[in-house]
Amino acid sequence: MTDASEAIGFEQPKAPAYEVLERVLGTCEKHGLDFERRLEQLPAKIVLGRQFRAPARWTGSCARCGEEARQANFEAARAEKARQAEQAMQERFGRAGVPMRLRGRSFDNYEALEPGQRHALTACREFAERFDEHLVLGSTLVLAGKTGTGKGHLAAAVCMTAMRGGHTAFFATSREILLMLRASWSDKDAPSELDVLRHLVSVDLLVIDDIGVQFGTDAERDQLFSVIDGRYREQKPMILTTNLSAAKLQDLIGERSFSRLREDGQWIAFDWSDWRAQRRAREGGAA
Ligand SMILES: Nc1ncnc2c1ncn2[C@@H]1O[C@H](COP(=O)(O)OP(=O)(O)OP(=O)(O)O)[C@@H](O)[C@H]1O
Ligand SMILES: [Mg+2]
Ligand SMILES: [Zn+2]
Repeated sequence: MTDASEAIGFEQPKAPAYEVLERVLGTCEKHGLDFERRLEQLPAKIVLGRQFRAPARWTGSCARCGEEARQANFEAARAEKARQAEQAMQERFGRAGVPMRLRGRSFDNYEALEPGQRHALTACREFAERFDEHLVLGSTLVLAGKTGTGKGHLAAAVCMTAMRGGHTAFFATSREILLMLRASWSDKDAPSELDVLRHLVSVDLLVIDDIGVQFGTDAERDQLFSVIDGRYREQKPMILTTNLSAAKLQDLIGERSFSRLREDGQWIAFDWSDWRAQRRAREGGAA
């Protein structure tokens, strides 16, 4: 039975031939189908003068059970692949600056109870779903209004939807953008201001979150203008979020930046109360 190559552990080119010791007819309890069961065993092997024999095993199952097992295997492999793809996508969201606290946010989990919320949701969803068109048009969305109304939520949802559609995006607060641009001044290992600007201009979608009054020197204003103007000139879409009124935003970013936004922009007012307070009131009110 054995030759020298087998004895020293060379791989067998052929699948091992099982010996069938017994055949019985079975009926599947689940499907009621008849099938043959076989008691099989590999032939004994002689290795270094000793005989080895693996235990015999029963094989064979009903055709439907076999098909179900193959299907289950396939589904498990597909689920695992999807899980890995989702994990890679979440890592991309992280590198694109989408904050952890907003990474689970979507259009589907944005509750729109008031007409204003419904309008904001519809506009943001449209922006995301037709991102290809907005990429060509260089549209801008300004989400402006009170704290806790979901500006960040919807901006992140647009950003992540565009990325799932294969687009590049970057999400940063205005403060982070200024710090990125300025890092090269003090840190020689940081990318140059020009490289940062190029990156901010080149991504398909830029979200500048939380443009507020916390900054406002002329130099900072100029830097923000260079980003907005750079994207405007490349006709690239942008989403800005702010707590400021239109007049205050214009004061802060300057007339030139502001008129750039107005030209291809849509202003969405978030003028309902803080969602957390709303929810607390609903839940408290019900009790
Ligand atoms: N309509 C809503 N449905 C579900 N969750 C909401 C809604 N509005 C806000 N939230 C949630 O409330 C929290 C605060 O919202 P978010 O951070 O988007 O507010 P914001 O408008 O950006 O506020 P700020 O101006 O303070 O930055 C988030 O966790 C967000 O997911
Ligand atoms: Mg916010
Ligand atoms: Zn069966």
